[in-house]
Amino acid sequence: MKGLFITLEGPEGAGKSTQLKLLSKHLTDIGIEHVITRDPGGTPLGKPIRRILLNSEESISPLTELLLYEADRAQNVFEVILPNLEAGRIVFCDRYIDSTIAYQGYGRNLDLDLIQMLNDTATNKLKPDMTILFDIESSAGLARLHPSGHDRLEKEALEFHQKVRAGYLELAKNEPERFRILDASAAMSSVQDQFRQFLSELIPALKIQSAC
Ligand code: TMP
Repeated sequence: MKGLFITLEGPEGAGKSTQLKLLSKHLTDIGIEHVITRDPGGTPLGKPIRRILLNSEESISPLTELLLYEADRAQNVFEVILPNLEAGRIVFCDRYIDSTIAYQGYGRNLDLDLIQMLNDTATNKLKPDMTILFDIESSAGLARLHPSGHDRLEKEALEFHQKVRAGYLELAKNEPERFRILDASAAMSSVQDQFRQFLSELIPALKIQSAC
């Protein structure tokens, strides 16, 4: 594989999508080609899956939810992530396998071995080169969300979100060589600096340019 695969993870309200947009603009400004995708909804087929997962008024069983996230991911790996990595590009994915372990595993209490097996199947065991965990305390993250715009997952109880965050921290502890933990409660410019600092381990141009 010639490219670089970087994933962003974190609980609700951590601001990772906003930070990725800022980073992307900077990378474009300094002439570094990259691709941005997201789980769920990174492909045309994945968009309606995302709508079902986030906005469905119907009740969705935990197992159905898990399988929909994995179906979306299998398509994203096949259609976007792998071809771009094979072409030597840097690919950023906003959420990936660790979201499923944190949300469906720790949050919904689904079997972690089953999730691991489905993650491996959906991705053909493609692991990120680096995963940045945008960490924020659950109530602080939830307080940042727009009061009128809560989706199906965001509406879950605080306890669910606390389990998700604990799951992420456990994952990061177990794989310190892949994870970098960023303090997402800091001011926006400081988060962007931390983000670039971590990425500069893989993209040296970010070290020289790093200043917000
Ligand atoms: P986001 O793209 O705005 O972060 O929304 C995606 C939502 O889906 C978020 O609440 C996390 C959740 N999610 C899971 O529960 N499992 C998964 O595998 C993924 C990728 C996301």
